[in-house]
Amino acid sequence: MTVTTQQDTSKSSYYLTTPIYYVNGVPHLGTAYTTVAADALARFNRMDGKDTWFLTGLDEHGQKVAQSAEANGMSPQEWVDGIAPRFKEAWKMLNISNDDFIRTTEERHIKGVQQFCETLYQNGYLYKDTYEGWYCLPDETFFADDQTVLIEGQRVCPDCGRPVEFVCEENWFFKLSAFQEPLLELYEQQPDFVCPQTRRNEVVSFVKGGLKDLSISRTTFNWGIPLPFDPSHVIYVWVDALINYITAIGYGSDDPIMQAEFARRWPAELHFVGKDIIRFHCVIWPAMLMAAGIEPPQKVFAHGFLLTKGEKMSKSRGNVMTPSELVRIFGVDAYRYYFLSDVQFGADGSISIERMLQVYNADLANSWGNLCSRVLNMTQKYFDGVVPDLWPKTIAKLTEEMGNPLAQIVQAEEGLYQRYAKAFGQVDYSGALSSVLELCNRANLYVEESAPWNLAKAAVAEKSEMQAAGLDEANATAPTASDRLAFVIYNSLEAIRVMALLFAPVMPATSAEVWQRLGLGDVLEIDDLAKQVCWGLLPAGNKVDTGEPLFPRLQLDDIE
Ligand code: MSP
Repeated sequence: MTVTTQQDTSKSSYYLTTPIYYVNGVPHLGTAYTTVAADALARFNRMDGKDTWFLTGLDEHGQKVAQSAEANGMSPQEWVDGIAPRFKEAWKMLNISNDDFIRTTEERHIKGVQQFCETLYQNGYLYKDTYEGWYCLPDETFFADDQTVLIEGQRVCPDCGRPVEFVCEENWFFKLSAFQEPLLELYEQQPDFVCPQTRRNEVVSFVKGGLKDLSISRTTFNWGIPLPFDPSHVIYVWVDALINYITAIGYGSDDPIMQAEFARRWPAELHFVGKDIIRFHCVIWPAMLMAAGIEPPQKVFAHGFLLTKGEKMSKSRGNVMTPSELVRIFGVDAYRYYFLSDVQFGADGSISIERMLQVYNADLANSWGNLCSRVLNMTQKYFDGVVPDLWPKTIAKLTEEMGNPLAQIVQAEEGLYQRYAKAFGQVDYSGALSSVLELCNRANLYVEESAPWNLAKAAVAEKSEMQAAGLDEANATAPTASDRLAFVIYNSLEAIRVMALLFAPVMPATSAEVWQRLGLGDVLEIDDLAKQVCWGLLPAGNKVDTGEPLFPRLQLDDIE
């Protein structure tokens, strides 16, 4: 990879990753969930001034991928080359802003993985032995006898419940058992290393229970990266895959620019993972890094599963809705909003199309979309589509007379931005979104309470009264009805500007659209969010555009 963008090295680096996905299938709601969540956080951090680097990619080696290729009559390389564009297209459709996309079949990765394994070997953490035990192919995981479950005479995987196969091979092993104490120390010193807390407890008690050495190579197939010191072995797919987090940012590169990039970006701030792969990320990965003399990441956040009718979604269960179907019905931003607002991040969450419709109509069509439509339409109707101007003195008087609940929400001491940023800091999307929706609902209420349509009528009546009395409205000392109307419209537009900013990490396309409609520019690109979430920054005189409804109401009939 070449670094093409000019980086601002004075800013602190914020490096976050998703798991790299297996290419035995195409993207689905589960993989899209992790990716959308990571994207929203990456976007928030960019807007908040951090020099963000967001990585996603593909896990292309291993027996499972090789089997999928075979089943489809292709070579593994042909197969992965055919699937990779499907992921790239899906992430484009979901407006994912990843800065890099790593594939484990790329040269930069292969070179780094070999260097890493060579280092483990040189450091004395690898040895050869015979592995005898079980292997779950769908999960690409080794299990000892006592870890598997016996159901009707068949051994199955304790995690996914599918049959495991017996493996007896001479393999290379990693001395994972040597890292029990260092790992427990890590969890102690970095209490946030595993999040949320329930997962941390799970990991700590697992490690306290003792660690077995890990088989890190295979010899019965060859779709993988050869061990540099024993090329008849290919590196175990999980070891290969985990190392992507460092090879993507320059580990193993001879290029000094990439070496500097690695020094600057690592350790990562955050690895996003699903709860199914937490042991790999919170036990094996930090131990591998320690063995290679590299610092572990700052944090691993494990989210729950999306469930449909109480079950994990999977192809074999036949309960899969595809991201593209839902995006076609609801639009990309509504898709992103639904999964991040309605499922408490970290816990399992039930999803359904009926619920998605409900959330779409309530939060997006009736609240956010409706607010934008009505306020922009009124700006058009009463002010020829121009953001009204008020003298500061008049504003002070009007605030005293009428109050300004929207400014209060934005400007309060523990105000909107603080609550929102804190929620993002805790990877609490629903918390962040509900604080914005609160402002949105308050703004709709404000419009109802202030009834600009009545103020407009009063302004017309007042004008003709003044004309009849030979008075000039411009000379009036007390605020007039048209000042009140301008005040209400300005406040509503300003609240919309603030909401467009705060919704942007989750709904980037509609926020950019609203930004444009407010006459604020064609792109919404800022890096000082805290400063922008401040009352009164919408320039008076801006020409606004009403446009089409952002989220047209939908009914069940529309989606069947
Ligand atoms: N290739 C490994 C990861 C290697 S990372 C060094 C892998 N790939 S995967 O394709 O199976 O993707 C797993 C990830 O997809 C999960 O950890 C989770 O992030 C996401 N999900 C897959 N199904 C899911 C749900 N039903 N619900 C939510 N997310 C789930 O494991």
